Amino acid sequence: MTNTVSEQEAAGRARQMLGQMTLQEKIGQMHQSFMLDEDIQTLAKNGEAGSMIFAMSALAGRDRTDAARAEYANHIQQVAVEGSRLGIPLLLARDVIHGHRTVFPIPLGQAATWDPTVAQIGNEIAAREATADGIKWAFAPMMDIARDARWGRIAEGYGEDPFLASAFAAAAVRGFQGDDVRHPEHMLACAKHFAGYGAAEGGRDYDRADISERTLRDVYLPPFHAAVQAGVATLMSGFHDYQGIPVAANRHLLTGILREEWGFAGLVVSDWAAVKELIPHGVAANELEAARLALHAGVDMDMVVGVYRRKLAEALQKGNVSIEEIDRAVERILRVKFLAGLFENPYTDPDRAAQVMLTPEHRAAARHAAVESMVLLKNERNLLPLRGGYRKIIVMGPLATAQSELFGSWTLDGRGEDVTSIAEAVQQTAPESMNTRVVIGSERFDAALFAARSADVAILVVGEHPQRSGEAGSTSTLELPAGQRQMLEALTDLGIPVVLVVIAGRALALSREVKLADAVLYAWHPGVEGGFAIADVLWGREAPSGRLPVSLPRATGQVPIYYSHKNTGRPASEASFSVGYVDVAPTPLFPFGYGLSYAAFAYRNLRVEQHKQRVEIGVEVENISELSEGKEVVQLYVRDLVGSVTRPVKELKGFQKITLRPGQVQTVRFTLQPEDLCFTRADDTWGWEPGKFHVWMGPDSDHGLQGEFTL
Ligand code: GLC
Repeated sequence: MTNTVSEQEAAGRARQMLGQMTLQEKIGQMHQSFMLDEDIQTLAKNGEAGSMIFAMSALAGRDRTDAARAEYANHIQQVAVEGSRLGIPLLLARDVIHGHRTVFPIPLGQAATWDPTVAQIGNEIAAREATADGIKWAFAPMMDIARDARWGRIAEGYGEDPFLASAFAAAAVRGFQGDDVRHPEHMLACAKHFAGYGAAEGGRDYDRADISERTLRDVYLPPFHAAVQAGVATLMSGFHDYQGIPVAANRHLLTGILREEWGFAGLVVSDWAAVKELIPHGVAANELEAARLALHAGVDMDMVVGVYRRKLAEALQKGNVSIEEIDRAVERILRVKFLAGLFENPYTDPDRAAQVMLTPEHRAAARHAAVESMVLLKNERNLLPLRGGYRKIIVMGPLATAQSELFGSWTLDGRGEDVTSIAEAVQQTAPESMNTRVVIGSERFDAALFAARSADVAILVVGEHPQRSGEAGSTSTLELPAGQRQMLEALTDLGIPVVLVVIAGRALALSREVKLADAVLYAWHPGVEGGFAIADVLWGREAPSGRLPVSLPRATGQVPIYYSHKNTGRPASEASFSVGYVDVAPTPLFPFGYGLSYAAFAYRNLRVEQHKQRVEIGVEVENISELSEGKEVVQLYVRDLVGSVTRPVKELKGFQKITLRPGQVQTVRFTLQPEDLCFTRADDTWGWEPGKFHVWMGPDSDHGLQGEFTL
């Protein structure tokens, strides 16, 4: 985050401020209020709130009533700074998950770009806009690994793989915080939800995550470690029960790993009411016990529910907690506020909002992100990009004219009226030269089907409404929402080519749909510029270059499904008595890392050169298409053949997105060192083990040229 001098300075100023505070003021800093708190003004004036979240409710991003705005932020901040005894500014927070007014693709879609700069630039823009509305603390990036797409929050993270997610997590933090978070256009980031939340049993949100410590460390912790190394200022503890101890009471996680092993010096805020939820979890009999458990575990700030505010003084008086524990939490909070420059600049310039919101540059960046995120899954007879010769093209389906639905989950400040729908964008940007009439199908499917009879191509836009994605958006099936497959069947019965555009917040099971459609473009929830981005790709002004950050299953019953699985003693094969199901192939419908483009690429001459413990791996990649320039994501995978514990059949250890003109050849190289091959060994230590390794370089987790090396 900032240079060490300001960190040392911030720590010194925090200690100095702490010495002046009363117990009530200290406990006040540990309380985060929210906008419905009728007494937020009183709390701010009395120094009894350390933060306020711009949220009217716990509707998890579905509550669009509480638009943030600078005037309110400055007003409430002024009450704290000028009205309270010590004038300690508030941390003003909001869920800025994938954009503020300029809404970017959902993080899962951003991960599909395999270009972490998309997340960095997106969050730079989000910070520029959100700080103009008075917000200084983003409750993002979310970096929970997810391998069960029934879990609605798979939408908010960076997919199934720790290596890819770590690259995005670090970039996302840098985007929010910049190189100095004191800058008025930078904001504090918050790595969430520490840790293992995505392993929710059954994909049911808020359910327990009963995973081994080894799985936690090798799969779920790496993105958080990358965020801490990138200087993330804050972390949020998850709701869930990890190995029987809910995270808000889990000292091993919040103190043992986060503080003692990693040396994290920032603040930990609980998730919404997670401190109070220790009671229904059944580890606290009442709020007094919940307060003690959470503080002892390492929760510094209690989000909105007020357990700390109501019970910490009593807990101290009864000897359940110590003043040292309270002081340590308050010092962390104050240190973050000093680091953020809040004491020098507590207010925002209200005139800035009008200048920075949704500028053409911001829209262009969102459009670029959406284009780069799209994954072309199928393109029979090169139907795409749409070429001349079609008299009539119809765009139809349940999401063809959608606007705010393209935002996906968690877009508090996006506005539907900012969006041009997919159908409108395809119609508006149809190339004149093609002389093609684009009609927009009626929302009454029957009427649209009737109109499709005379079309040369149909573009059917299907997928998920944001209400069934994101927090509290877990689904029991990964099939398309009811009725949508039937629409595709009816359309294909007309005998015309069909392009299926999928708008989704998760990995859907599309076995039948992929068979029926001639081309399939997976566009995630693509954000405010999603309509134009999809049109750009369909018309060929842009080429698709997204690659899957999650495996797409054949059937719901396959999840959790992911490429870096263990080999088991009976590896999947056609033979019976091997791992898998009797009624579906053991492989995903499309593998992690998969994606087509309008060009084609060949891989040649894999070279593995070893210099002591440094291994250089290189491959030649050629664009073998005659006409199309294309982007390829060259991926490096490794397998540790024998370990003290079972090892995944493949692990991503490098990726590079390159652009090649037709006929162009580029050599892509990666270097591996032993520290790139570390894992939690049988003796529970982190490290690598000598032995033989296989290595692949290729277009996805299922294909590539194979080599080997021995360390
Ligand atoms: C929500 C989410 C968390 C969010 C917080 C504040 O319930 O779990 O991700 O940042 O509460 O809205």
